Amino acid sequence: MVKEQITASIKAKRARIGVVGLGYVGLPLLTEFARAGFQAIGFEVDSDKAARINAGDSYIGDVPRSVIKELVDSKRLSATTDFDQLQDCDAVIICVPTPLRKTKEPDVSYILAAADEIKQRLHRGQLIILESTTYPGTTDEVLLPMFEASGLKLDEDFLLAFSPERVDPGNPQFQTHNIPKVVGGVTSDSTDVAAFLYSQIVNEVHAVSSARVAETAKLLENTFRAVNIGMANEMARLCYALNIDTWEVIRAAATKPFGFMAFYPGPGIGGHCIPLDPHYLSWKARQHGFDSRFIGLAEEVNSRMPDHVVQLVADGLNDESKSMKGSRILLLGVAYKQDIDDVRESPALSIIDRLRTKGAEVSYHDPFVKEVRFEDAHTEGGGQPLDSVPLTDDELRTADCIVIVTNHSGIDYQRVCRLGSLIVDTRNALNGDLRRDSSARIIRL
Ligand SMILES: NC(=O)c1ccc[n+]([C@@H]2O[C@H](COP(=O)([O-])OP(=O)(O)OC[C@H]3O[C@@H](n4cnc5c(N)ncnc54)[C@H](O)[C@@H]3O)[C@@H](O)[C@H]2O)c1
Repeated sequence: MVKEQITASIKAKRARIGVVGLGYVGLPLLTEFARAGFQAIGFEVDSDKAARINAGDSYIGDVPRSVIKELVDSKRLSATTDFDQLQDCDAVIICVPTPLRKTKEPDVSYILAAADEIKQRLHRGQLIILESTTYPGTTDEVLLPMFEASGLKLDEDFLLAFSPERVDPGNPQFQTHNIPKVVGGVTSDSTDVAAFLYSQIVNEVHAVSSARVAETAKLLENTFRAVNIGMANEMARLCYALNIDTWEVIRAAATKPFGFMAFYPGPGIGGHCIPLDPHYLSWKARQHGFDSRFIGLAEEVNSRMPDHVVQLVADGLNDESKSMKGSRILLLGVAYKQDIDDVRESPALSIIDRLRTKGAEVSYHDPFVKEVRFEDAHTEGGGQPLDSVPLTDDELRTADCIVIVTNHSGIDYQRVCRLGSLIVDTRNALNGDLRRDSSARIIRL
């Protein structure tokens, strides 16, 4: 049977593992399989990425170049744009993007494109796993019929499962091997073999009864974050209106050892997951006549945060009898979170766009992001790309307002407080001592 065949090849480390899509998720995963002694082949549509990997280079912060180089040199890891090599793989894991359309509906076209490449080479004895975050039912309603159209039969010829990715880019404490992996197959054989495969590279595997449960578990995790961040953002705005220190309130509440989990406000949500994933769930719910109200509300609150940040800047300037128009605004950090280079959906982009619309002269400094581009800018000429400026004394002194959007750890905040005149701190990056000793006016979220 196919179950025994694939299990035996995994046990003997003979199984060749293909990973389709080598981004923030796919490259670390490919690396883990190669490190565990498997032959690991990465499939990419971006030939530059494939070439860089084959040259022993890395473009993902969490995957050291030295690790890629060693694995490529020892011929355990390679990357290719030639999808015919899928034929050589015993397990194929799909890690392609799952964006939203402009209408905020799921865009599974990347999954379909990857699945089509697999389908053309599908043969007996293969295990296919989808890792891209998606709506419940994608694996058994969309992928299964595609693969069975090849004439091959599930369980008799191939296996199919979903396993959500939980990687947290830039988090050195939790990496692929020590993040428990949820696995749900379309059939129990699929679950068993997929769980066995992941047990080769992660410490803990949690098997569930179906692919749908696994798909929904991932969406619950990220919806939970989006909703709780929304709650924290609402508290921040409420506390601002009441002139109460939000951060002190959260610190106090977080001393409760049960029944409370601290979430923090910020300039808005970003990245490829939290702003998008809840829409995959609410879209699917809508297909079944169900209106998920928490998701809509969280989206509404979170998406208003860039406007609130711009209002704080305007209020600060106003108190100094300055207008937004013509003021020099310096943003510190444009990545969507601390110490990473990812600007996808970053609230910084909306903040820059809004500030420029109001006539401000905007610059930014981010040690991780050299340049940002604006595809959907609302201002005339506002779509001009911006380059990160060096954080010179002059830059800090001459800014009418400094806005801390991302609290990167490498920034000397003491210096920022010493040289700045007006600072809007959206991340509580400036601790009590810094604030006390600073001559700058500091406005916190
Ligand atoms: N980034 C995260 O923190 C994170 C965390 C958990 C889950 N996820 C989910 O994982 C999936 C991948 O996200 P990511 O952040 O790694 O995306 P990414 O954009 O970093 O990487 C995706 C890669 O897939 C490649 N690609 C696109 N179409 C392809 C195709 N047909 N064949 C081969 N390669 C193709 C792209 O060139 C890109 O290199 C998404 O569904 C995302 O929601 C991401």
